[in-house]
Amino acid sequence: MSTPVLETENLVKVYGRGESRFDALKGLTFEIGRGESVAIVGKSGSGKSTLMHLLALLDEPTAGVVALEGKPVTQLKPKEVSALRNKTFGFVFQQFFLNANQTVLENVTLPLKIAGVGKSERNRRGMEALERLDMADKAKNKATNLSGGQKQRVCIARALINDPSVLFADEPTGNLDSTTSEIVEEILFGLHRDHGITLVVVTHDDDLAAKCQRRLIMQDGQIVAEESGSSLTAEEAAR
Ligand SMILES: Nc1ncnc2c1ncn2[C@@H]1O[C@H](COP(=O)(O)OP(=O)(O)OP(=O)(O)O)[C@@H](O)[C@H]1O
Ligand SMILES: [Mg+2]
Repeated sequence: MSTPVLETENLVKVYGRGESRFDALKGLTFEIGRGESVAIVGKSGSGKSTLMHLLALLDEPTAGVVALEGKPVTQLKPKEVSALRNKTFGFVFQQFFLNANQTVLENVTLPLKIAGVGKSERNRRGMEALERLDMADKAKNKATNLSGGQKQRVCIARALINDPSVLFADEPTGNLDSTTSEIVEEILFGLHRDHGITLVVVTHDDDLAAKCQRRLIMQDGQIVAEESGSSLTAEEAAR
């Protein structure tokens, strides 16, 4: 078997201390294979976002290990971690707001700017990503003048700009109407299907979770069950 893209061993996250101590993750061990689609589901407060932040190397565990492509992250220097994160991961998080006063194109190309890519190359790749999401005509708009679904598509374009191998999405269809949700889902699973991207999705949406190949079910900081099998038909999966 090939090395899993992400592995955790006995992952623990404790918030606060003393009387306000809260055990958000209570020792999680699992793997995510390369090119897999995995949904993390469970009630509000069960620890889904906490787990996602640890997997995405945006936060550090209190104890336990996250390994990326077989390499424990603790063995890396902070600079190496941020370089790896920028190169390997894309994020579609609702709390990663767009900068309202910048244009759509500036928002989308921000990760490239951080990575030190020059302006003309940035804009070329930015337009390419916007075209993939049918948003090229809005490139020069201020991000504030967009509908909710359009903003979500800009977030996805920004997540794709570095050609990530793993895409993390926290409630990607959370505030969207059903038509826009379908478009976003189609984009996410299209990337999974056509580009072999690994999808890790936190969602309350049962239909979206069912489309993933695997579901990790969380309760009170633990994975209490796991399900396999996607509701996508073979035809949909291959389309
Ligand atoms: N910074 C923090 N300090 C203290 N407690 C926290 C902190 N962040 C999260 N928690 C607590 O940890 C638990 C898990 O939070 P988390 O955000 O992971 O839940 P979730 O499963 O994503 O919920 P939701 O579905 O509502 O987004 C919650 O009880 C929350 O109150
Ligand atoms: Mg959450």
